[in-house]
Amino acid sequence: MVGLGSRHELYQDAIEKTYARWAELVGICDSNAGRIDLTQRRSRRNGAPVPVGYRPQDFGRMLREQRPDVVIVTSSDITHHEYITGAMEAGCDVVTEKPMTIDAAKCRQILETRKRTGRTCRVTFNYRYSPARSQVKELLMSGAIGDVLSLDFHWLLNTHHGADYFRRWHAERRNSGGLFVHKATHHFDLVHWWLGAAPVTVMASGKREFYTPQTARRMGLSGPHHRCRTCPEKDRCGFYLDLGASRHLRELYLECEQHDGYERDRCVWRPEIDIEDTMNALVTYDSGATLSYSLNAFNAWEGYTVAFNGTKGRLEHGIVEAVYVNGAETQPANVGQAGVKTRVIPLRGAPVDIEPWSAEGEHGGGDRLMLEDIFLPDPPPDKYRRAADERAGAYSILVGIAANRSMETGARVRLADLLPKLPAPDYPPIPDRTDPVPMPAKSGCGS
Ligand SMILES: NC(=O)c1ccc[n+]([C@@H]2O[C@H](COP(=O)([O-])OP(=O)(O)OC[C@H]3O[C@@H](n4cnc5c(N)ncnc54)[C@H](O)[C@@H]3O)[C@@H](O)[C@H]2O)c1
Repeated sequence: MVGLGSRHELYQDAIEKTYARWAELVGICDSNAGRIDLTQRRSRRNGAPVPVGYRPQDFGRMLREQRPDVVIVTSSDITHHEYITGAMEAGCDVVTEKPMTIDAAKCRQILETRKRTGRTCRVTFNYRYSPARSQVKELLMSGAIGDVLSLDFHWLLNTHHGADYFRRWHAERRNSGGLFVHKATHHFDLVHWWLGAAPVTVMASGKREFYTPQTARRMGLSGPHHRCRTCPEKDRCGFYLDLGASRHLRELYLECEQHDGYERDRCVWRPEIDIEDTMNALVTYDSGATLSYSLNAFNAWEGYTVAFNGTKGRLEHGIVEAVYVNGAETQPANVGQAGVKTRVIPLRGAPVDIEPWSAEGEHGGGDRLMLEDIFLPDPPPDKYRRAADERAGAYSILVGIAANRSMETGARVRLADLLPKLPAPDYPPIPDRTDPVPMPAKSGCGS
């Protein structure tokens, strides 16, 4: 496993606890010696064999000495491509966190290496596995609203989660591709998978207008400062993060700073941030569908709404994931299914509220189902084909990369101009667009 920050813990515990019968963590790699040590301590706590630790310059040696079957990549986004291609060159299969990578050149390198080596590359789109989103896929596959001609998709991050992207490496576009790549890769992948269609063109706009020095001053602060830990206005800033207050944050970041200077609590108001907090995109698809998308990173609640307009009706779906922030804690939305809405509205007929599918666990239960799919030697067949490979990884980031280019130039960007001859992804079939559509009942005029 490469990259031993907070996300890696999900995979380490899956290997060493839930799936220990089938998997073993044999080698770990990180640029931070403190986090290598922490991961080894976690293995001891898990009662598992302690994996050997390596630094990035010894990644090749790790593969030669440990001879892993699979390399799991959970490092920061800018490093993914090096480890994905290095692992495949050494004969390993890859499981990588999203975004697969952050620009078109690195994406091409991954696709070419995969083709040449014949290894597999899996991109862990856990959002697909959330039962409520799989149910949307089921409704679309069953033809509940006919062919989808357009959709509106709006994702909101609250000031608990959303602000976090402005505190650390994500806040520099060169590290993360900005939120159009880092975050929206999940959302664009959902749309591609839901529609069973590939994106063709993107037109986008975006701005950073909340996480700015001006907002800090409008909120009565004297200005942005370097970081929360040394902030002279920590008592007055509602965005203060106390890294020492939580054992997890303290051990993983604060106590590891001495090794690499990675400060997890940089000021969210600092001027040098170069990613957007407000984004809009219009995307066209090879199926003919059009997407209107937005992402907002400073909202009052966290979650999303999506509406599909089809030849037979409309499907509305949304999840309120978290409502408000109370001190250091996010207040979850109503537990159970109260935060999930799924409704089918025929062209002429009464709306039908659909009882949502559900599961326990992080990311709407999606993480647990995805881990089963990754680690069970013989996972059950999946009619929704939720396991994603490098093709889906590529399409989902290329929409964000095209959006970044469109923001720079003001022009509509064709994905084929960024990366020609992209192989078609393997999405499950949706109803044929030439299938007959029932004529709706007669109605009068609207006025
Ligand atoms: N699917 C999801 O829901 C989800 C959720 C969180 C994070 N992620 C993804 O997981 C990845 C890690 O995110 P995180 O929140 O754990 O970040 P993090 O900052 O906590 O951890 C990143 C780790 O990578 C290490 N690293 C940096 N440069 C390296 C290099 N050159 N070689 C090896 N290691 C290096 C850092 O030292 C750190 O330990 C990101 O790609 C992120 O997008 C996915």
